[in-house]
Amino acid sequence: MTVASVQDKHILITGGASGIGAASASLLASRGAKVTVADMNVELGESLVKQINEQGHVASFVPVDVSEADSVASLFAAAKDNYGPVNIVINNAGIDHLPGALADLDDAVWHKNIAVNLTGVWYCMKQSVKQMLSNGGGHIINISSVAGIHSAPLVAPYCAAKHGVIGLTKTAAVEYAKANIRVNAVCPSFIRTPMVEKMLEQVGEKMATRLIKGNPMKRLGEADEIAATIAWLCSDESSFMTGHNVVLDGGMTA
Ligand SMILES: NC(=O)c1ccc[n+]([C@@H]2O[C@H](COP(=O)([O-])OP(=O)(O)OC[C@H]3O[C@@H](n4cnc5c(N)ncnc54)[C@H](O)[C@@H]3O)[C@@H](O)[C@H]2O)c1
Repeated sequence: MTVASVQDKHILITGGASGIGAASASLLASRGAKVTVADMNVELGESLVKQINEQGHVASFVPVDVSEADSVASLFAAAKDNYGPVNIVINNAGIDHLPGALADLDDAVWHKNIAVNLTGVWYCMKQSVKQMLSNGGGHIINISSVAGIHSAPLVAPYCAAKHGVIGLTKTAAVEYAKANIRVNAVCPSFIRTPMVEKMLEQVGEKMATRLIKGNPMKRLGEADEIAATIAWLCSDESSFMTGHNVVLDGGMTA
């Protein structure tokens, strides 16, 4: 089988130290990309990059807090120094929050979710576009969620941020289509990652079982399944796709 090529592309992944980001970083590096792993978790990020390098592939770790504009600017400068301008950026860094009805949630939960899950994507998109414009084009892949396309009771701040990511994706796709910059989003449902394992522990066994049984496939998705689609998007086989949100949810929203 021919594998969609990402050979020699410089791919930057935020939140690349864990879960969906780490699975994507490993897969893309194994297919010949030069990968910048960016994350606020330095220990996990450095350990992943060491593992990728030991397998003979190319990756570097750069620390970042995506909710800080200066930190994001430093990340993109460091990435460019390492491997030249970015060809593809995967805006994946994200957080969740404890469930609660809208009126009961603390304002701090709202502000934190918007800062990381939406403003973080905004800062990274701006830096991505600047490097891509100077380099003849590129592809931005934003990780939204099924909570970005329909209601998500008890997680309103997360839901609002992820809807915002879809708005940024569609608008930037149209604004920059002529500049050869594509912008797409990926919308997973529940995927087995450290974020979701922790959430399932917190909500208790009954609720966890209900969440899993509520999916037509009766299971969680795996990080590798999301990474495989991201890798295809990173290849030129997706060349006519822009402004789209790819839903990976086991049929949950069908
Ligand atoms: N796992 C799911 O079920 C699921 C479903 C839909 C969408 N998503 C989205 O996928 C993305 C990845 O989630 P995951 O499940 O792999 O989670 P994860 O917790 O395993 O990984 C998230 C990574 O983001 C990093 N991060 C968090 N805040 C950051 C910040 N301010 N700056 C830099 N890095 C930061 C964390 O350190 C971590 O390494 C998130 O955007 C999440 O909202 C996940």
